[in-house]
Amino acid sequence: MASPLDIAVVGATGAVGREFLDVLEQRRFPHARIRLLASARSAGTALLYRGGSVVIEELTERSFEGVKLALFSAGGSISKVYGPIAVDAGAVVVDNSSAFRMMDHVPLVVPEVNPEEAAPHRGYAKPGIIANPNCSTIIMLVAVNPIRAAFGVERLVISTYQAASGAGAAAMEELRTQTADVLAGRPAEPKVFKEPYAFNLFSHNSSLDPLTGRNQEEQKMIDESRKIWRDPSVKITATCIRVPVLRAHAESINITLKTPATEGEVREVLSRAPGVTILDDRAGNVFPTPLKASGRDDVFVGRIRGDESQASTGSGAQAKFHGFNLFVCGDQLRKGAALNAVQIAELL
Ligand code: A2P
Repeated sequence: MASPLDIAVVGATGAVGREFLDVLEQRRFPHARIRLLASARSAGTALLYRGGSVVIEELTERSFEGVKLALFSAGGSISKVYGPIAVDAGAVVVDNSSAFRMMDHVPLVVPEVNPEEAAPHRGYAKPGIIANPNCSTIIMLVAVNPIRAAFGVERLVISTYQAASGAGAAAMEELRTQTADVLAGRPAEPKVFKEPYAFNLFSHNSSLDPLTGRNQEEQKMIDESRKIWRDPSVKITATCIRVPVLRAHAESINITLKTPATEGEVREVLSRAPGVTILDDRAGNVFPTPLKASGRDDVFVGRIRGDESQASTGSGAQAKFHGFNLFVCGDQLRKGAALNAVQIAELL
């Protein structure tokens, strides 16, 4: 993909779609023409891009003629139908939905973790569709992968605090509207989510397996991490919660290492990790927050500390811990979605 090519953004009017445009513009992604595709509802309206105005077209089977790269974020059902159509037309698809992620022949890529999987010669027949992982999974892996590379990971226990943006533009609007309504003394009217969103939090809205009790978001964190790490034996358990935050996820992560490490060693590894910014000021009680991570590319990591409830040896700075705790924040729309997808396209 050395010379400028025609690209398409499917779902361009959505929360992730608009972020695609910002990220492509900011990173000066090389392309010739850009086609912005959405539903018939948006066709004929326009979005600003690189100082000009680009008219939205309705997504149809003919939308991909001449397109060499298609970035999809219009939901799984649209990806399932139009992803293969785009590939047949000659495009590489980077898909933000969960439609293809767990298929054996589809690479699932976080560029800081497994960039080699985006290359066609790495065991995949052709780079037709490349899947962008789940947002909570990406943000967690950017922080944990460098620790895993140095000390191995036996087990992860994760609790998430997830923003509205993961459920799309309508969910972000629901948070704004309900907050204004409640402050004005009016009742909150749940539309996107079942529970009231303003001044509240609730178990993730994805469907729940009645047998295991796990919701889909929690299952994705388990299955996708194992696929990306090519490690089916790593133990992962997660509790995913939606909180009234607009666009950045937070996660509390408890890690059991294979080889114990000092806190200094873990900090050293994180300080060199791509895509990670350490924000860990104990004296000032200043740590990552969703607002600090919003609009930023890096995943912010703080509250780095040995877990005294797991095995440890030694004391003071020399103490070696099997367990560590982290508190992590990352922008769901950027690293959790659009930025990761554009980085995959850059790898190609
Ligand atoms: P539209 O704005 O025209 O409805 P979000 O994830 O923020 O909810 O955004 C979903 C994106 O998917 C929007 O760009 C939306 O376009 C697009 N979309 C939804 N349904 C379709 C469809 N049937 N055909 C094409 N695009 C669709």
